[in-house]
Amino acid sequence: MEELIKKFEELFGDSNGVKRYFSPGRVNLIGEHTDYNGGHVFPCALTIGTSGVARKRNDSKLHFYSMNLERFDVVEADLSDLTNHTEYNWANYPLGVVWAFKEKGYEIPTGFDMVIYGNIPNGSGLSSSASLEVLTGTIIKDLYGFSDISPVDIALYGQYSENNFNGCNCGIMDQFAVAMGKKDSAIFLDTADLSYEYADIKLPDAKIVITNSKVKHSLVDSAYNDRRNESAAALKDLQTVLDIKTLGDIDEKTFDENASVIKDEVARRRGKHAVYENQRTIRAVEALKNNDIELFGKLMNESHISLRDDYETSCTECDILVEEAWKIPGVIGSRITGGGFGGCTVSIVKNDAVDTFKDTILKVYKEKTGIDAEVYVVDIGQGAYVLD
Ligand code: GLA
Repeated sequence: MEELIKKFEELFGDSNGVKRYFSPGRVNLIGEHTDYNGGHVFPCALTIGTSGVARKRNDSKLHFYSMNLERFDVVEADLSDLTNHTEYNWANYPLGVVWAFKEKGYEIPTGFDMVIYGNIPNGSGLSSSASLEVLTGTIIKDLYGFSDISPVDIALYGQYSENNFNGCNCGIMDQFAVAMGKKDSAIFLDTADLSYEYADIKLPDAKIVITNSKVKHSLVDSAYNDRRNESAAALKDLQTVLDIKTLGDIDEKTFDENASVIKDEVARRRGKHAVYENQRTIRAVEALKNNDIELFGKLMNESHISLRDDYETSCTECDILVEEAWKIPGVIGSRITGGGFGGCTVSIVKNDAVDTFKDTILKVYKEKTGIDAEVYVVDIGQGAYVLD
């Protein structure tokens, strides 16, 4: 934060009246590719994230500066032109949120200056973009006194801007987790109606460990959108025989009994994943409530197999990380997390196995892929907040 303030002074003259903000990244424990299928997700906010300092201006200019991407210098936009410009690069994320507030009827009277720094590894699937969107929403709410806006609204505006200003058709999970996270809890969110409850993550004997494959395959956005379309095709065929609104409305048995109406074989597998993964998530949260962490881990493993084989959003590198993790004694569960096609895996590892896990995974992954993975033992943090 001190560095951010110093940078702010250097760029904008002084730091009188500057305010400080933080917005986390997230990891999803289970419930993958269910959030646009009317299903459940179970993510938590992390203690790593994006820090920002900001101050209102007297004119209509908007200034964005990232200490991670200093080569872009200060990006200057203006309230009179809230449109996506390729040359704004990363700043299209905060700008999109300004646009979304306006679209939702909030008049932002003056511009602002904003400097950020994030420690979420880039392109890792730990939601650096949702973190930045929710940070910006938190800043706008605070600077302009929009006290009627809730953290859920901020999450929705973040998703709205990502869908309509930045062109990624994501669901609500990431922004919701980042805005609504609670220390030491995961959020059991029903994306059909945004009802949610917090579940304590009491793991006295184990840790949540994230492994970054360091790969991000191209065409992620288009592959993601393909999955959405394929799931929608499965739903459409099922609706010819079932009175349902989403794939989250049915259980495995109902799916199996009716799956033959899904004409396309690929769409059938996508639909199967969406239905089974939603039910797995419900069962996993139940298991956690019963302190049955072994069952929780088993369901995480099943989630990975389903993402690997039916939904096909894993990749060779993440399969290696997960399948090697399964072999290590003390690993309770392991799966790819987030949108997929690279990024991170999440594992639950017994305390006394964490060191072996790290050493083994890093070594085997390097041998098999030539890539140095990164392993982080993480803590669950709280959602976005204002520091002063
Ligand atoms: C990305 C999207 C989320 C969700 C996940 C998959 O992270 O932003 O909305 O769909 O992929 O579970």
